[in-house]
Amino acid sequence: MIGKLNHIAIAVPDLELAVKTYQVTLGAAISAPLALPEHGVTTVFINLPNTKIELLHPLGEESPIATFLQRNPAGGMHHICFEVDDIEVAKEHLITEGARLLGGGIPRTGAHNKPVLFLHPKDFMGTLIEIEQI
Ligand code: CO
Repeated sequence: MIGKLNHIAIAVPDLELAVKTYQVTLGAAISAPLALPEHGVTTVFINLPNTKIELLHPLGEESPIATFLQRNPAGGMHHICFEVDDIEVAKEHLITEGARLLGGGIPRTGAHNKPVLFLHPKDFMGTLIEIEQI
């Protein structure tokens, strides 16, 4: 069902330091920071030949990653995102398999203007999973 790894998202407490680390230490090509107030994050995209890394920094009071950073003050991997062809088909399959969907299982528009769903980390070996219809 799942296709390509679309991105790995890393929550970072210090966006400037994270950008410098990826740009200078790791020598990666970095995009300009993009504020997404409706998602409560500022993102920086790092395009790699085979996938993307997204640095996530909290934006606003209701940021969904603020709690994560409280528990992981140094930052850390927040979620991984797999591509699917049809999010409704994927959703039905996941429900049949007993996986728990977050957000009431209603696909919403993700950071790339594509429909996404998040899956409960307890069902996936402690990893928050995002599926994105491409
Ligand atoms: Co994501």
